[in-house]
Amino acid sequence: MIGTVGRRIFGVRDRVLPGPVAPGDVLAETKGLRVRLGGAEVLKGVDVRAHAGEVLALVGPNGAGKSTLLAALAADLPAHGGTVSVCGRVATDWPPRELALRRAVLPQSATLSFPFPVEDVVRMGRAPWAGTRLADDDDRIVREAMAATEVGAFAARPFSALSGGERARVALARVLAQRAPLLLLDEPTAALDLRHQELVLRVCRERAAAGDAVVVVLHDLGLAAAYADRAVVLDGGVVAADGAPGDVFEDGLLSDVYRQPIEVFPHPRTGAPLVAPLRDA
Ligand SMILES: Nc1ncnc2c1ncn2[C@@H]1O[C@H](COP(=O)(O)OP(=O)(O)OP(=O)(O)O)[C@@H](O)[C@H]1O
Ligand SMILES: [Mg+2]
Repeated sequence: MIGTVGRRIFGVRDRVLPGPVAPGDVLAETKGLRVRLGGAEVLKGVDVRAHAGEVLALVGPNGAGKSTLLAALAADLPAHGGTVSVCGRVATDWPPRELALRRAVLPQSATLSFPFPVEDVVRMGRAPWAGTRLADDDDRIVREAMAATEVGAFAARPFSALSGGERARVALARVLAQRAPLLLLDEPTAALDLRHQELVLRVCRERAAAGDAVVVVLHDLGLAAAYADRAVVLDGGVVAADGAPGDVFEDGLLSDVYRQPIEVFPHPRTGAPLVAPLRDA
């Protein structure tokens, strides 16, 4: 069982390092998850699994419950029914300091307005490792996270003086620096230009190849089709479909879920599904 195994860290009695993870291990799972917000049931019995080594795209229309599901997987929101587990343990049973070693969260609206230099903001991602011998790697990991998100050029500038897309990349760098095996990313590409959207999805793939479980909320179904191993389509708080994007992204299902005529056709060179609204010629 993942998470219940681990090593005591010398000199740090309150934390156990995450144990090794094998490809395919379930790092997060909901069963029959129900969540109520403001008196309304927002998730109505959701079953999802995030596996080590896999990029899972969460898609669906505005208000479908994607951010709510991500917050529940992060143990930031309580379940009103059903269960949520992270690394083999009921999510809300994890002490916060141990949870922070296991899952990293990029919220949808990163309302960070740190007056600190970019590099210091990224370094905040290392806080859960303070006092462990892995803190020796902080400098290298911060450098790598900044390089992966192409924010090195403004490392010394105040975070508050960056553009929206630059801030979004720094917020992602901070999450990457946390080096948690479960990555929960809510619309990491929303503010990004084309190049950086691709960059971020490539980073997701790299983290999955390194053994992490990556759950990423996306509105761009083409990006999801190109980069995700699996897609969960949420609609009105229930899972409308769960499978390989090539199977799940189908005209009828997407048109129903988005209440918008949609066509899916293969890319002429790669065959990857392309998703577009149906428009008059
Ligand atoms: N604090 C709250 N109180 C009441 N209702 C809420 C609250 N937070 C979210 N909701 C409702 O829950 C539903 C799901 O919200 P959620 O943020 O999970 O949607 P989403 O799929 O992430 O949408 P989007 O694509 O717009 O980000 C929405 O109808 C929303 O209005
Ligand atoms: Mg959302």
